[in-house]
Amino acid sequence: MKHIVTGGAGFIGSHLVDRLIDAGDEVMVIDNLSTGKREFVNAKAKFIEGDIVDKDMIERVYSEYKPDYLHHLAAQIDVRYSFDHPIIDAQVNIIGTLNLIESARRYSTRRIVFASSGGTVYGEPDRNPVPESYPNIPVSPYGMSKLVSEKYLDLYKRLYGLNYVSLRLGNVFGPRQSPKGECGVFSIFALKMLKGERPTIYGDGTATRDYIFVDDVIDSFIASLDENIPSDYYNIGRGEETSTKEVYDLLAKVVGYSEEPIYSDPRPGEVYQISLDISKAKENLKWEPKTSLEEGVRKLIEYIKEKEFY
Ligand SMILES: NC(=O)c1ccc[n+]([C@@H]2O[C@H](COP(=O)([O-])OP(=O)(O)OC[C@H]3O[C@@H](n4cnc5c(N)ncnc54)[C@H](O)[C@@H]3O)[C@@H](O)[C@H]2O)c1
Repeated sequence: MKHIVTGGAGFIGSHLVDRLIDAGDEVMVIDNLSTGKREFVNAKAKFIEGDIVDKDMIERVYSEYKPDYLHHLAAQIDVRYSFDHPIIDAQVNIIGTLNLIESARRYSTRRIVFASSGGTVYGEPDRNPVPESYPNIPVSPYGMSKLVSEKYLDLYKRLYGLNYVSLRLGNVFGPRQSPKGECGVFSIFALKMLKGERPTIYGDGTATRDYIFVDDVIDSFIASLDENIPSDYYNIGRGEETSTKEVYDLLAKVVGYSEEPIYSDPRPGEVYQISLDISKAKENLKWEPKTSLEEGVRKLIEYIKEKEFY
């Protein structure tokens, strides 16, 4: 099988590429290395350094490579950045996605698996865990751009029969997640604690997210390739709410860190509390998360120490 993985030099994408290569498949990565790293890309994968907004490049790569599957993970991923730069966010996340969907349609791709965002397409739910049927009321340009991309996937399924699976991911954590950006609280806190610095919690620590370890997310991408799976949206999380302070305490326990966090003002535009109802993914994708938060944290800490990122 031949796969294109956009964003394959990034945190989640690079793990997906490794898994596909390990299974004996061929992979072409398209990534502009804006946040991804060349060294994360599996040596057996083909690599194109390019921007998904560049329609001609996408068309050229697609027409030459003609993949069976497209895994679309390249994105502007920073929720807070999307408030100040909604047009750039839309160009990458909507137009970039549309460029890929158009080529996928022309070259009869068997399925597109899309990295959507369970943490942002619903907005602020009034009950948790939130099912896929819950209304979509995003509260950020990023959430809106993910939602619009999903709508295009759905439209292309209805117009042209192009199959897709949109994975509405919770908050993913694990090795290779950058501690430098605004996302990835596990990596940010872990690095600070290992350096002996005090991490900052925005808000009072009671905000919750549905955190999931990266290996479990990769399982869901692989499960999505089964041709019997209906083209649809699926929540991918652990179905549990974990507060920022609970994340802090778990990391502190594993690292052996005893300082209290610095508390700062909550950041506007962020959802307060959310977890995802994963029944539909369990039933249709025959998928479920296997890694406990503590197990995931141990693997993350081991990785950071080994790589001497600090
Ligand atoms: N990490 C999470 O918790 C999470 C949650 C929900 C959804 N997602 C989605 O999963 C996907 C992967 O996220 P990640 O956490 O691995 O982030 P990441 O930043 O590590 O990966 C994104 C990759 O896309 C590349 N990229 C960005 N803009 C590009 C462009 N215009 N053209 C080509 N490549 C481009 C980056 O260089 C990077 O390698 C994204 O679509 C993100 O929105 C992530």
